[in-house]
Amino acid sequence: MRVNRRMTATVATAAVLGLTLAACGGGDTGSEGGGEGGGDQVEVFTWWAAGSEKAGLDALVGEFENQHPDIEFVNGAVAGGAGSAAKDLLQTRLQAQDPPDTFQAHAGMELQDYIDAAQIEDVSDLYDEFGLTDAFPTDLVDRLSTEDGAIYSVPSNIHRANVVWANPTVLEENGIDPEAEYADLDAWIADLEKLDEAGVTPLSVGTTWTQVHLLETVLLASLGAETYTGLWDGTTDWEGAEVTGALENFETLMGFTNDDRDGLDWPEATQMVIDGNAAFNVMGDWAVAAFEEQDKALGTDFTATPVPGTDGTFDFLADSFTLPVGAPHPEGAKAWLETVGSLEGQVAFNKAKGSIPARTDADPADFSEYQQGAIESFANDTIVSSLAHGAATPVATLNAISDATSKFTTGASDLAGYQSELAAAAQG
Ligand code: GAL
Repeated sequence: MRVNRRMTATVATAAVLGLTLAACGGGDTGSEGGGEGGGDQVEVFTWWAAGSEKAGLDALVGEFENQHPDIEFVNGAVAGGAGSAAKDLLQTRLQAQDPPDTFQAHAGMELQDYIDAAQIEDVSDLYDEFGLTDAFPTDLVDRLSTEDGAIYSVPSNIHRANVVWANPTVLEENGIDPEAEYADLDAWIADLEKLDEAGVTPLSVGTTWTQVHLLETVLLASLGAETYTGLWDGTTDWEGAEVTGALENFETLMGFTNDDRDGLDWPEATQMVIDGNAAFNVMGDWAVAAFEEQDKALGTDFTATPVPGTDGTFDFLADSFTLPVGAPHPEGAKAWLETVGSLEGQVAFNKAKGSIPARTDADPADFSEYQQGAIESFANDTIVSSLAHGAATPVATLNAISDATSKFTTGASDLAGYQSELAAAAQG
């Protein structure tokens, strides 16, 4: 089997022009015998296009090659963290009846969007065929299912969003104890101030989606798990004083971030901590793979702790893979889903990706120290749903929250205006 490294830009152009992928090369080709119902290839659409994320995908592809040597993996990855470019492009393709054979989707409300739009198939038969029915936690399967028992994707992994990554050397050099445990955001902010005064970038962040990621963890820290969850089920008042206080915290934290943030995606923002150019970064635990890829050791070269004020809560998201309606190679897609759901696939992928396996039968001893801690937290902590990664809201709500956040952080709205726009966004 050959891994097709099709250029992202080519995929983007193809979709925008409404062309079939075959016209660009790298998709169906007559000589390879592709075609309707064919099982000889599978185009896998993700946003794991570079760096440690691509390394994770490559590990999964390696296991796919072991399990299905006769099926060609066609890489449909579109660059941009959190699917910031991929999700729009995917929608264009789905609406043009040009689906990939399978695509990455977050468990929860994001997946529900595709279900409601009848863009993906019920794969519960595959759960029976591949013996997956009892492989995943019930709560997770609920987030992939409708009430009538149909299941719409196979989960590959579980990530934690509420993690602060820190560079202990930078902290020590500035008189801050790298082992300090901050009880809340105020305690953390006091040290961020010290770093700021010393001329160090206290907190690195990147473009809009990473700012929304920071926002969700600040909402969680400021409101607590129950009130945070109420933001998504309508029981917390977005216009209330508690949310105002949380947004003030967000404003304060953004004041400690790097000026070039809007030009950076997560790898560059996290790299600032790896390189000692910033003290802290808030990012999901895909970041651990970036540290490890550069031979950085947990505890010595970096630390990973819950965002201050969120200890005991696991801000959850999960990636999963779908069978789109009208997939050109459904047999190839089913083979991919088989590998994604298999124990071997989950171990290979998650070891490289920094996430924890969605399967409950994986052996924690196969994973890193960081991941073993995450496995324990996921089992014991209060679970809440990530905003920035599709668990908590439909894509349209997240897009509206992202637009409002970008306006606020670029100075185009004040805090009161921001709060009203968030309240309107959450109403849908
Ligand atoms: C998330 C995704 C993760 C990781 C991250 C950064 O949305 O679930 O697997 O890829 O984006 O791109």
